[in-house]
Amino acid sequence: MAAQSKGKYYITTPIYYPSDNLHIGHTYCTVMADAMARFKRALGYDVRFLTGTDEHGQKIQTIAQKAGVSPQEYVDKVVDGIVELWDRMEISYDDFIRTTQPRHVKRVQEIFKKMYENGDIYKGEYEGLYCTPCESFWTESQLVDGKCPDCGRPVEKAKEEAYFFQISKYSDRLLKLFKEQPDFLQPESRRNEMIAFVEQGLEDLCISRSSFDWGIPVPIDEKHVIYVWLDALTNYITALGYPDEPDLYEKYWPADVHLVGKEIVRFHTIIWPAMLMSINEPLPRQVLGHGWLLIDGGKMSKSKGNVVDPVKLIDRYGIDALKYFLLREYTFGQDGVFTNEVMLKRMNSDLANDLGNLVSRTASMIEKYCGGYVPDKGAEEGPDGDLMATLTGAASKVEDHMEQFKFNMALEEIWVGIRRANKYIDETEPWILAKDGSCKERLDGVMHNLAEAIRIISILIHPFMHSTSAEIRKQMGLWFAEPQWEDATVFHMMNGEQVKKGDAIFPRLDIEKELEELSKLNGKQDEPADGGKALELKEEIVYEDFDKLDLRVGTILSCDKHPKADKLLVFQVKMGTETRQIVSGVAQYYEPEDTVGMKVVVVANLKPRKLRGVESKGMILFADNVVDGNERVEFVTTVADDGNAVT
Ligand code: MSP
Repeated sequence: MAAQSKGKYYITTPIYYPSDNLHIGHTYCTVMADAMARFKRALGYDVRFLTGTDEHGQKIQTIAQKAGVSPQEYVDKVVDGIVELWDRMEISYDDFIRTTQPRHVKRVQEIFKKMYENGDIYKGEYEGLYCTPCESFWTESQLVDGKCPDCGRPVEKAKEEAYFFQISKYSDRLLKLFKEQPDFLQPESRRNEMIAFVEQGLEDLCISRSSFDWGIPVPIDEKHVIYVWLDALTNYITALGYPDEPDLYEKYWPADVHLVGKEIVRFHTIIWPAMLMSINEPLPRQVLGHGWLLIDGGKMSKSKGNVVDPVKLIDRYGIDALKYFLLREYTFGQDGVFTNEVMLKRMNSDLANDLGNLVSRTASMIEKYCGGYVPDKGAEEGPDGDLMATLTGAASKVEDHMEQFKFNMALEEIWVGIRRANKYIDETEPWILAKDGSCKERLDGVMHNLAEAIRIISILIHPFMHSTSAEIRKQMGLWFAEPQWEDATVFHMMNGEQVKKGDAIFPRLDIEKELEELSKLNGKQDEPADGGKALELKEEIVYEDFDKLDLRVGTILSCDKHPKADKLLVFQVKMGTETRQIVSGVAQYYEPEDTVGMKVVVVANLKPRKLRGVESKGMILFADNVVDGNERVEFVTTVADDGNAVT
């Protein structure tokens, strides 16, 4: 019986730039969206899951030119590879939108016209600092160290006639949205950043380009093409047929969640809602920003040559092992470091040892002690009650974690059940029961309980690892039935299923050997970012030295230049109920207004002192970072709430 529909659920990934093959960072986002889509389907929602590609813009045009092909030929080839990757990974998307598809092109033009007719678009001249790879104009104050704040590359002055979107018209409504609908953007630190960004004053947004032509023509002036972000963001509704074929739109819009990387949260929570306000359409319910997968402390990018190819990992370890690792290892919203070693260790400990062993031990014992058939339940005794409670209680805990996109916690909850079942084998010692004919009834009861535990686990892992779930169910004689989520809350459903032990679902890996193989396959990936140069560090300290520091999280309320010293900035930092004035020598790295709203870590028990006549109580922590060979100083930030000790 199919679960009763709980209503609709519309989830989207960003549409990826087909400038090159996708790497594991992109895969991470799509795997999360897929797990959530499968999970909601299992709960009985009518799910729509959209992904796609963002194919226009100067960057693609330039790459295609260099490759000696037309932009369309170029993107067609890369997009084929992306579709193949998602198909190989069995990503369960319902629609794949390409921004070059006629359905999208005509609808974007309609949307542009609507915004124009509503009086929100005007023609002007744009002069600004342009980052070509990011297709973004920046103001002087937004640059970091004079470079693009998103990618750190140099920007150049550019000027052109252009159409503008009067986004500032919607500032008040945007602020109201952030303040009245806290769920729209989580966590709080990101929301504060966006509020600070809007409060700083929104400049009208340049939404057309005339210096290149690989884009959707502006419908009222064909010399221009539509700015790539306006083109891209609308995909979430053009894919639903807005405005001319609105059936799906009426059914699924507004989106329940736009899942995006943290660097594009601003586009999704400021520009996109303002565009929807301009065309009088409802806003998405939630935008969730995930962290980046880093390698050697930096973001993966083809130009740095440090990307991890998901295809190589799937070929070697299988789809489910990779999906499990990505969902289990990283905390949603935070950056995480990818290393082969951590991945392999997790695959061995959680998959080969915990899950794999549980299934293979149980299947062989049922074959050996029960003639290959799952026995009926026996009288409850010993650890049975605890096993049942842990397993049947897991589904609702998984639901709670998934509600908050805590994939790692959801999986951990399932693994609590798996480890409980393994412990149950050690506690009940079936091999000893098997030696004594008078214990046959208990032995059967134990085997039944283990089969039940595995049945429940197979349901719980289904949204995350559907092939493994199916394989386990097949080995346990359950292969003919579709897993139903509600069945994970009930014990004692099995009796008489024929068990057939198969190959190990996750073979144990020889980590040393695998590391060698992977470094051969991936080349540079495990080398240090600075090409092997050792870090130059200060003298080593002992724990007692470190323990003297009282570290607190604070929020920067305001920041001004020091009246007498060019290198110093004067911050007002809120920590709990207290507001502290702290002076730091970072004026060359940050514009004061860019720091407002940031969560920082403060040494709160540092003796106060005056710096060029201005009192400073405490110290804000900064750390050196090397990006693309350039050293820069960065805030130590956190997503925690104010006033917490950092331990
Ligand atoms: N085309 C835009 C999105 C438009 S959505 C209307 C874009 N494309 S992208 O290909 O550059 O990035 C797509 C997504 O991949 C972003 O959400 C980005 O954060 C994510 N990732 C790219 N590299 C990543 C990691 N190393 N780690 C995690 N996610 C990363 O932006």
